Amino acid sequence: MHLQKVKILESTALPFKQKFSPNLKKYLEIYEESIRDPEKFWDREARKLEWFRTWNKVLEWDPPFARWFVGGLLNASYLCLDRHVKTWRRSKVAIYWEDEVGNTRTLSYSQLYSEVNRLASVLRKFGVRKGDRVAVYLPLIPELPMTLLASARLGAIHTVVFSGFSSQALADRVNDTQAKVLITADGSFRRGKLLSLKKIVDAALEKCPSVESVIVVKRANVDVNMQKGRDYWYHELLKTARDYVEPVPMESNDPLYILYTSGTTGKPKGIVHNTGAYMVFNHAAYKWAFNIRDESVYWCTADIGWVTGHSSIVYAPLSHAATMVLYEGAPDYPTPDRWWEIIEKYGVTIFYTSPTAIRMLMGYGEKWLKKHDLSSLEILGSVGEPINPEAWIWYYKNVGGEKCPIVDTWWQTETGGFMISPAPGLVLVPLKPGSATLPLPTIEAEVVDDHGKSVPTGVKGYLVLKKPWPGMLMTLYQDPQRYKEVYWSKFPGSYYTGDYAIRDADGYFWLLGRADEVLKIAGHRIGTMELESALVSHPAVNEAAAIGKPHEVKGESILMFAILKQGHEPTTQLKQELKKHVREVIGPVATPEEIYFVHSLPKTRSGKIMRRVLKAVLMDMPIGDLSTLEDEASVEEVKKAYEEFKKLLKGSS
Ligand code: PRX
Repeated sequence: MHLQKVKILESTALPFKQKFSPNLKKYLEIYEESIRDPEKFWDREARKLEWFRTWNKVLEWDPPFARWFVGGLLNASYLCLDRHVKTWRRSKVAIYWEDEVGNTRTLSYSQLYSEVNRLASVLRKFGVRKGDRVAVYLPLIPELPMTLLASARLGAIHTVVFSGFSSQALADRVNDTQAKVLITADGSFRRGKLLSLKKIVDAALEKCPSVESVIVVKRANVDVNMQKGRDYWYHELLKTARDYVEPVPMESNDPLYILYTSGTTGKPKGIVHNTGAYMVFNHAAYKWAFNIRDESVYWCTADIGWVTGHSSIVYAPLSHAATMVLYEGAPDYPTPDRWWEIIEKYGVTIFYTSPTAIRMLMGYGEKWLKKHDLSSLEILGSVGEPINPEAWIWYYKNVGGEKCPIVDTWWQTETGGFMISPAPGLVLVPLKPGSATLPLPTIEAEVVDDHGKSVPTGVKGYLVLKKPWPGMLMTLYQDPQRYKEVYWSKFPGSYYTGDYAIRDADGYFWLLGRADEVLKIAGHRIGTMELESALVSHPAVNEAAAIGKPHEVKGESILMFAILKQGHEPTTQLKQELKKHVREVIGPVATPEEIYFVHSLPKTRSGKIMRRVLKAVLMDMPIGDLSTLEDEASVEEVKKAYEEFKKLLKGSS
């Protein structure tokens, strides 16, 4: 790899009008102590949760497989509910739910507890036991977190499929887990439009023989097909449900969930998270990042279909008995101040969103913000993709009124929880717009070159993690070999994140996007191979390639290339059809912005598509300006391919 020098922004220690005063020295003391004895550190943190039985050993590290809090027994649903309903918090609001048109539901901890128990009893009736997989395909309604907690209560393993995914994506994930129960809804709404979820489920289930029962929540009140003996209405089942189900004691290393995420092959990876260490890590990191308190009102705008929702809507906040807002809908519907309106209405104190959403709302201008009193805000979070300094500063000034730290949390589906992030709930470090700042306690992050050697300050390299941490994935579902290869073989002894980063002279981390063939579209992770397999599944396409192009709002957008099979003409109509096809195979998040028809693609001698050449040509950049994805072609070959492809593209549509 040609390592690139990248200009780093000047350090800007921003002033805070409120109670947060940055203290780098204190951070370093805490961090260094944690690094000296991480096991002692996590032993202490783990004791903040309620266990049915404590562990014999904090960590068994058989690289790259970790077992944490070995022998400890606990239950995640118990930690998020039972613990709180034994106290005054039983009447505390857990969830303020609202939809686009202003329908609301409010659930206290005791109501949530009761609903979860009742649903758990229903699931048990359907034969769900410890270790069984429960598939979830629900919109962002209270039944979604309830389902996760009910599954966890029984010791079952949930696998949530984002409700924006297509029937094929749903079927693939359900089949991989062999789930026997699936929970869905009749439909949901986005920008006022009905999404017929049950129809998508019906199509998926034609290919999913493992699913014996389907539970359907009435959300959209639309007519749906209910297959006798397989499909049941949620509200009907709950009529005869039991009020209490004993939470199943889980060994700390029993899986809590599987969540699929994109990698560099066409097949999504089933990330498996354990129960004990995942809860310990998230409970701690959430407190550090967001300084959650009983009087906080927290709102994370993510969907529970992604890891952000699992950790930062369900497990961490509920384990702290947080009061949260759950909003089902688009940020700018019906008007561009919908989110600001909600912050004002509920007095949100902690707001956690994505750079894409910030950039989009920034585009609508400050006039929409000025209509609302946002003075309740105390902390602002960002996640999912690098936040550019301009968006950071806009967020800080206009949303936070220059009094809220921007907590830019770097993490991944695989890391389970926050890794590099400011931590105002522990000790705030001086902030720099665009940097996720410094690692959380015990996290040893480093930037290395192709040979795994630390790069000098200011030089771009690969971000790696040098030690196991409690939130880490256990393995890839039923594929430990792939787990080893993907994460632990590129730099033996270290976990490879797949991200580029730079460390500045103050030790701050600047995340620079993916180093592998994974795209980040509006913060959603999509593999180029997944897109390519989707496109070639169309009968007119012989070969395909996908790349990400920088996009002002979404971070990246999808551009694709297609080589057509003989007998097919490159028409505008076919282009539209192909875009629709990719969208239907994966889901709306994967809609290509453009598809180019070509006769050949630049390849290495071994047949690997040179995506950097495609990228350079399309973005009209000299090939040398791109950070390389290593492929085995020589510089000369790449240059030649670049020139040839440029000509080819000019001559095609
Ligand atoms: O590239 C990094 C980017 O998102 C990737 C992980 O994606 P996913 O597993 O979908 O999880 C997203 C939510 C945790 C990372 O490899 N990423 C995530 N957070 C940040 C980020 N890039 C820069 N800054 C962040 N704060």
